[in-house]
Amino acid sequence: MADTNTLKFGNHDYPVMSGSVGPQVVDIRKLYSETGMFTYDPGFTSTASCESALTYIDGDEGVLLHRGYPIGQLAEQSSFMEVSYLLLNGELPSKGELDEFTHTITRHTMLHEQLATFYRGFRRDAHPMAIMCGVVGALSAFYHDSTDINDPRQRMIASHRLIAKMPTIAAMAYKYSVGQPFLYPDNSLSYTGNFLRMTFGVPAEPYHVNPIVERALDRIFILHADHEQNASTSTVRLAGSSGANPFACIAAGIACLWGPAHGGANEAALNMLREIGTPDRIPEFIARAKDKNDPFRLMGFGHRVYKNYDPRATVMQQTVREVFDALKVSDPVFEVALQLEHMALNDPYFVEKKLFPNVDFYSGVILSAIGFPTTMFTALFALARTVGWVAQWNEMISDPAQKIGRPRQLYTGPTQRDYTPIGQR
Ligand code: CMC
Repeated sequence: MADTNTLKFGNHDYPVMSGSVGPQVVDIRKLYSETGMFTYDPGFTSTASCESALTYIDGDEGVLLHRGYPIGQLAEQSSFMEVSYLLLNGELPSKGELDEFTHTITRHTMLHEQLATFYRGFRRDAHPMAIMCGVVGALSAFYHDSTDINDPRQRMIASHRLIAKMPTIAAMAYKYSVGQPFLYPDNSLSYTGNFLRMTFGVPAEPYHVNPIVERALDRIFILHADHEQNASTSTVRLAGSSGANPFACIAAGIACLWGPAHGGANEAALNMLREIGTPDRIPEFIARAKDKNDPFRLMGFGHRVYKNYDPRATVMQQTVREVFDALKVSDPVFEVALQLEHMALNDPYFVEKKLFPNVDFYSGVILSAIGFPTTMFTALFALARTVGWVAQWNEMISDPAQKIGRPRQLYTGPTQRDYTPIGQR
């Protein structure tokens, strides 16, 4: 929305726009044509790349809203299917709408049979995220009838397919790594129960879904469902801005998510906690994190947007206790995590830089208790984030202001010079 306010730069006035909540933005679209200058903002720390009505974060207050609903309420009272509907459609569903949506997703859980042969081309020790990048990109070779991005119906079918098939793809990546047969989906189970069975079940015997684990994992999926214009979502939007098909765009998002500064942090955080091992070693690691000459960072700590406790980490920490109680297990790593958090939050370095636990700090502790190996953690993040990616991608394609993403640069290389033949250099 354009405000009456403007920001003066030189002889030109630039409109100031306001959203429904959050900081105002300066519309600089005419800056180059009017002044011949670009803006410089590596990492996009001050740049809004799009309008969006999906997710709002107030990083100072530790607030995360999906379509206006606080993440804590959704995690407590909703389900991943309902949150998926909300993100895609903008409103909470009626009972009938939710049943129909769940039925549609459930009916798309199977993969084209030939895709199983793709898996067999990978090494058994391939990282599940490497497999996910390849297999999800390859979906575009199998589902030609949902790659026309100009057809809203095809866009919705592709979105449903991606949400539905991601658990099957992730579970098959796990099964392949442990040398067990793939399990077909069982559509009598819930979205999350089905994923648990495809991951931990075997064809030789029935698998009983533990309802507490199912609920905890469903909540983890809700916590990861969307997160505004983060790196992987921006990657999906950038890839999609060229008109690329949705499967290729989501594969690009998965590739970006894999990095340890982003979704790969959950795997890195648990590895770090295990390496610390016992609370007496925490000061050593805190000292390393503060040392400018050491590249080590506390994984699962800090965030570009949150300068307060990540509200997802609060729910995660509660969920650890629930899962431990339900499974009657404990893990010394949880005690290390709690004490590390306590010490860091009382250390001036972390206080001044406003570094708090993020969603990845406790998620690994729960996933490990459920039985997932660390290499699967980021694959689970990708599974859940798929709904956010497709919702953001749909929003972008439907936006009349959408253009191909094409940043500018501040060129610092050589100016024009003449080519010298190799014998004269
Ligand atoms: N441990 C120690 N110091 C840190 C940490 C950390 N985890 N995070 C940031 N800092 C310091 C950093 O060294 C810098 O110090 P200085 O101002 O003296 O140079 C300052 O805090 C600001 O850090 P930054 O890297 O400029 O901030 P950023 O917004 O570019 O990076 C981040 C955000 C999440 C990449 C970063 O905090 C980090 O690397 N955290 C660890 C990885 C992690 O947990 N990532 C998951 C993010 S949440 C899930 C997701 O979105 O995928």
